Amino acid sequence: MKSALEILERYKGVVEAELERHIPRKGEPHDFYASIWDLLDRGGKRFRPAMTFLACECVGGKREDALQAATAVELLHNMTLVHDDIEDKSELRRGKPCIHRIYGVPTAINAGDAMLIKVFEIANSSKLPPERCLRLVEQVANRSFQITWGQAFEFSMWNRRNFTEEDVIRLLRHKTGALTALSTESGAIAGGATQEQLEALGEFGETVGIAFQVIDDILNLTGDEKEYGKEIGGDIREGKRTLMAAHLLRTAKAADRKMFLRLLGKDRITRAEVRRAIGLYAKYGSIEYGKRQAEIYLQNASDALNRLPESDARSNLAAIAEFLVSRSF
Ligand code: IPE
Ligand code: IPE
Ligand code: MG
Ligand code: MG
Repeated sequence: MKSALEILERYKGVVEAELERHIPRKGEPHDFYASIWDLLDRGGKRFRPAMTFLACECVGGKREDALQAATAVELLHNMTLVHDDIEDKSELRRGKPCIHRIYGVPTAINAGDAMLIKVFEIANSSKLPPERCLRLVEQVANRSFQITWGQAFEFSMWNRRNFTEEDVIRLLRHKTGALTALSTESGAIAGGATQEQLEALGEFGETVGIAFQVIDDILNLTGDEKEYGKEIGGDIREGKRTLMAAHLLRTAKAADRKMFLRLLGKDRITRAEVRRAIGLYAKYGSIEYGKRQAEIYLQNASDALNRLPESDARSNLAAIAEFLVSRSF
């Protein structure tokens, strides 16, 4: 069996070529195009389009039928990163300064908007039968709205001192799960899936997304900055309401709870304070707890996937899901 990285590698090239076909590399104003391609050229794991192709193959579709769906999904992902980094006041993305830090916030907003418009143009350019194409565009719209809702819900939790694990899972299901669900659903639609197949693949994608985001939030505390490509501890500075933070608040002694809440989202937090917060996560086993939860979501995802008949494509989807919870970048 191929490794997950080999599987991802197989699908990258065609998606990148399709992006080239739809988005001009150069033009006036220079920064408008440069900012879009700056992020796209940094690469990334590209696991979402691989999931789209594999979902299409899983339901008996031809790989080329999913090309526009896969490209739209990857571009939608990149667009959310540009806007998310502005919202989160982040510094690093894929190992380099965030787009708004290089080109300024107005250009980054326009770049993200333009990418989102291209997402719809690309999805609509597929040569699928008209009713499938329409279904694809509709699903891109539904899931894009859920992502934005998730981002908004996250900000509504910003200043809340009491938030539960249930709140966090609801958040992750939207801000991250909606896009990973779209990754598989769009491939399923392109491949002519039945309603049952579409639902199984959508559930798989959404649940994998939750596990993926929990692991991402763990890497933000424990990862290696060079490999991870984003600032370690950035989520503490940002005040992000993660599953590990909810666990800590549920289990910590009152004094630790108070100290943690003072650190989470603290303005001009120092490195020593970030380390102190990470120490609290360790003290209460919150990171181990997060890992166990991610494993449970991975198992649920795999149960949904196994509702589909066995195939190479199905095994490859399972391999990607496992990679996403065991990765270090
Ligand atoms: C980052 O996604 C955003 C999250 C949902 C955590 P990825 O980790 O897939 O980003 P790239 O595309 O590989 O850079
Ligand atoms: C991930 O956002 C989801 C979206 C970008 C919509 P986060 O803010 O949690 O992810 P990172 O840590 O910036 O990649
Ligand atoms: Mg962010
Ligand atoms: Mg965010």
